[in-house]
Amino acid sequence: MSDQYAVIGNPIGHTKSPLIHGLFAQETQQDMAYTAIEGPLEPQDAFAATVRAFIAAGGKGMNVTAPFKLKAFAMADERSEPAELAGATNALSFKDGRIIAENFDGIGLLRDIKVNLKLPMGGTRVLVLGAGGAVRGALLPFLAAQPAELVVANRDTAKVKALVAQVVARGPLLACGYRDLETMGQFDLVVNATSASLTGELPPVPPSVFSPTGVAYELAYGKRLTPFLRLARNAGTQHVADGVGMLVEQAAEAFAWWRGVRPETRAVIDRLTVPLD
Ligand code: ATR
Repeated sequence: MSDQYAVIGNPIGHTKSPLIHGLFAQETQQDMAYTAIEGPLEPQDAFAATVRAFIAAGGKGMNVTAPFKLKAFAMADERSEPAELAGATNALSFKDGRIIAENFDGIGLLRDIKVNLKLPMGGTRVLVLGAGGAVRGALLPFLAAQPAELVVANRDTAKVKALVAQVVARGPLLACGYRDLETMGQFDLVVNATSASLTGELPPVPPSVFSPTGVAYELAYGKRLTPFLRLARNAGTQHVADGVGMLVEQAAEAFAWWRGVRPETRAVIDRLTVPLD
């Protein structure tokens, strides 16, 4: 039997994971199957039971998506540092009866920015919007890329300050509210990691943060020109991107972790890209 993998979420109908991992497996000639599982929302312990049933049936690993990233984290026996910091996992590996939790969202985002978008991060000014799970997972990878300054802005400033306090010793980090951004000048990279775009909303970011030569990055993907990307464009930023590259790169990280071989991502990104305009 082929090695078994799956993505679990609810709803799960929209997932691109089986397509992405299927293409990776084909390219790297791995004998594996990858399916989508709609995880149960209730009762409370039904999610863990579903994961354990998958393991009992020979499952080797799982990607985890909303709303199960915290529950999957809670049931793990071992957790990587990015997973610990995020308090959430997006990839599990099942080995020798143990569940190991990783979080590749941040590393996938950084790889997309540095390798695919060719933005050298060293010495740049970076602004991240939001303080939810997506940001928690991305802070350490961002700091590892050694920006001159990493500013994280959120509506709820107590939340962003608490988050930044956990890792402030690791680099030049500052937490603030949106109003504070008005006097901070332009940034080389502005990342919208809020969930605002999922509902068509715009985070209250002042246009003055955008630079004509910088990059505006929307974590959501397939939503075309979101209000955030439109604002960036109107402020003169030429280079705008959505999160399709991050989606594929985090999948490639999980694939490499499970299979020991890193797939090429370019063709898969091109295949999944929805033009912004
Ligand atoms: P997740 O863990 O999936 O990232 P979350 O923890 O609910 O989700 O976080 C969502 C983030 O998007 C938060 O930073 C939230 O800001 P607040 O903490 O201030 O609520 C942010 N967010 C959601 N809608 C927003 C909007 N319309 N404008 C600005 N920020 C928004």
